[in-house]
Amino acid sequence: MATDGKIFVTRRIRDAGLDLLRDAGVELRVWPGPENARPSREEVLEGARWADVLLSLLTEPVDHEVMAANPQLRGVANFAVGFDNIDVTAATALGIPVSNTPGVLTDTTADLTWALLLAAARNVVAGDVCMRGGNYKVWGPNLLLGEDVSPGGDGRRKVLGILGFGRIGQAVARRALGFEMRVLAHDPFARAAIEADAQAEWAELDDLLRESDFVSVHTLLSEETRHLISTRELGLMKPTAYLINAARGPIVDEQALVEALRKKQIAGAGLDVYENEPAMAEGLAELENAVLLPHLGSATRGTRDLMATKAATNALAMLRREPAPNCVNPEVYASAAYRARRG
Ligand code: DGY
Repeated sequence: MATDGKIFVTRRIRDAGLDLLRDAGVELRVWPGPENARPSREEVLEGARWADVLLSLLTEPVDHEVMAANPQLRGVANFAVGFDNIDVTAATALGIPVSNTPGVLTDTTADLTWALLLAAARNVVAGDVCMRGGNYKVWGPNLLLGEDVSPGGDGRRKVLGILGFGRIGQAVARRALGFEMRVLAHDPFARAAIEADAQAEWAELDDLLRESDFVSVHTLLSEETRHLISTRELGLMKPTAYLINAARGPIVDEQALVEALRKKQIAGAGLDVYENEPAMAEGLAELENAVLLPHLGSATRGTRDLMATKAATNALAMLRREPAPNCVNPEVYASAAYRARRG
């Protein structure tokens, strides 16, 4: 179906999505900057003023000013499952639907969470550095000892604590079966799902932190979850425990984490996200007990193709003034502000 209208894509996404938009006949503008850069605020504003629909990436804040810049804006389609870069409250008040890309990156992100967990617990990165530095002189019984993930040495089933039992948290839990782990989960919005889950057990936050050998963060970022893990919470964790975060950086107080890692209050951390991404808290990069990745959770070719397709499909629906399949503020469609925007 041919679709009239203009879409501004804030950074180049995979062709799978762009081709869908081109084939639909939309007028397409993609920010022309290089792969490892992002548009300036002014460039985003300019794109928003020009477009009927904005296809945004998580690196671009889409706030009230951006959306209000164009009274004709029909929607914002985010290329991510997280949408904390968008002021959804402002969007709803302005009558603008917002969408995300749920489902397609669940397994990819769960896999990466496990990669971080195993890398942190078993010194995978330190081992690689040792080899490349020419420091492997002789095999030794004490070389780069880590912690068991499977029952291993003491025969005890290790405890995985999952914070946030949505799609990704559940997928991480499923993978724990192969390591014979006991899974504790905490999520005030999913208590029933946790209690109905054959594998996970509900735990209060503090109990989960005290009992877990690995704490993995999978909540959305909101005002309620900002600094969910800070000095007090890290203080409850075992000295042999690891913290894994492949969700959003600000859920963990990064400076408090640096302190806890420095003092060996916990054994280590595996991080894919940062509080002030792409910057890291001072001292984090120097810590050997942290494995650090540049936000790779959904970074496989196949998944990024699916995310691009999903974001483009949502953007096309918005352009056609149809309900977006993955709208995160569906109440907007019944609002006077939406009707007024439609004209
Ligand atoms: C998301 O989708 O929210 C991830 O952080 C990037 O894929």
